[in-house]
Amino acid sequence: MPAAKVRKAVFPAAGLGTRFLPATKAQPKEMLPLVDKPIIQYGVEEAIHSGITNIIIVTGRGKTAIEDHFDVSYELEHLLEIRKKTELLALVREVSDLINVAYTRQKEARGLGHAVLCAREMVADEPFTTVLADDVIDAETPCIRQLLDIYEFFCAPVLAVMEVPHESISSYGCIDAEPVSHNGSKNKVFRIRDLVEKPKPSEAPSNLAIIGRYVLTPDIFESIENIDPGAGGEIQLTDALRRLLRSRPIYAYKFDGKRYDAGDKLGFLKATVEFALRRHDLGGPFREYLKTLAL
Ligand code: G1P
Repeated sequence: MPAAKVRKAVFPAAGLGTRFLPATKAQPKEMLPLVDKPIIQYGVEEAIHSGITNIIIVTGRGKTAIEDHFDVSYELEHLLEIRKKTELLALVREVSDLINVAYTRQKEARGLGHAVLCAREMVADEPFTTVLADDVIDAETPCIRQLLDIYEFFCAPVLAVMEVPHESISSYGCIDAEPVSHNGSKNKVFRIRDLVEKPKPSEAPSNLAIIGRYVLTPDIFESIENIDPGAGGEIQLTDALRRLLRSRPIYAYKFDGKRYDAGDKLGFLKATVEFALRRHDLGGPFREYLKTLAL
């Protein structure tokens, strides 16, 4: 039987953004602009370009700016129309025309697994993708699309992974896995044997870190309901996947592309500089400016 089509993407966005204080005191971290687009819009566009048609954003207190961003802004559109700013008007409309976005609320920040569980009713009985907007991934084929191709082939949940330096593994979920040959390549797809959230480097089973893109099946919800709080006292998605492993195979995919941790100050700066340099309207003058800095 072919794998059921994935139409929905869940974006957990209720986190407090403590890594980015004070900017995130009164503003959601998902709305920090990378050049001129909020971080979360990169993820939403990646989902759309991967064939996703329904976006579900799990928000929390103080996150209304996200809803306003994807909504129609009549006043702004009207003003731009009167002033004949057609290019800007198109940019603004493009955002609200992007896609159907629905919101659900995570009342308490109880962890990533709990955030995903909050989307249960909206996801219903369908496979879905989960996108952590902090992880901005620049790739020729959108990362979600790459994972969907693996999901469709194996008919099983798939997580994005990448190799990280051994000492950094404690910032991630980590997998223990065996490579599986796929499409002539032997080191891209892995069948997961075990997973652990934020292990000490000395206890990590590998240097393959989970990155914030997942294709999940609806049985993950029951698994989330049945786990205890884990790392940091939170309900961890990694722990729910570990439980799910008892009843079905789960795969990991070493995606093609470059990942930026935009939820971290240094990662955000790197993404800003690289994205700006690649822009046809800003890249040239920005490069010239950077050259004048005595680095
Ligand atoms: C979350 C996940 C972790 C994953 C990481 C990727 O952690 O729990 O497994 O490796 O995202 O960015 P967080 O960064 O929210 O602490």
